[in-house]
Amino acid sequence: MSLVRLLYASTISETFSSNDIKQILSSAERNNAKQYVTGMLSFNRQYFLQCLEGSREHVNEIYHRIARDPRHQRIEILDYQHIAIRSFSEWHMGYLQNTQTLSELFYKYSPNDQFDPYRMSPEGAFALLLDIKMEILKAMQDS
Ligand SMILES: Cc1cc2nc3c(=O)[nH]c(=O)nc-3n(C[C@H](O)[C@H](O)[C@H](O)COP(=O)(O)O)c2cc1C
Repeated sequence: MSLVRLLYASTISETFSSNDIKQILSSAERNNAKQYVTGMLSFNRQYFLQCLEGSREHVNEIYHRIARDPRHQRIEILDYQHIAIRSFSEWHMGYLQNTQTLSELFYKYSPNDQFDPYRMSPEGAFALLLDIKMEILKAMQDS
């Protein structure tokens, strides 16, 4: 069974409210665990950037369900590739709260202060998510 990684960007829709994040993360935790899917979700009040990794069958299935979700729109796959190892095996869906640290990371990967994942290269988008992972691990160590 091949291991794949999918990266996509999307934009919140009019029906989205910031309370939805909690619900999205709880669905992701529950459903992704059942299908051995791991990953990372990043959110900056307007855009989502998400990575899903796991078997091709399960990643495709979860992605198609997410793509139908009315809480976001303009869903665009940035990268889809077969991988040898997972990068986010720590979490069924890792997430870092929107803090100053996250804003600084967005800035690091953006040409200006407007974070826009649609303009990122697949490598840049993936590197950003890896950086977010490092921040989460650091915060876990400090607490
Ligand atoms: C940006 C975004 C990311 C999401 N990520 C996941 C995910 O990783 N896994 C998942 O099962 N559902 C995810 N969802 C929610 C799904 O679209 C869908 O609502 C959910 O899977 C339905 O399952 P439930 O009835 O068990 O909540 C996401 C939704 C949005 C808007």
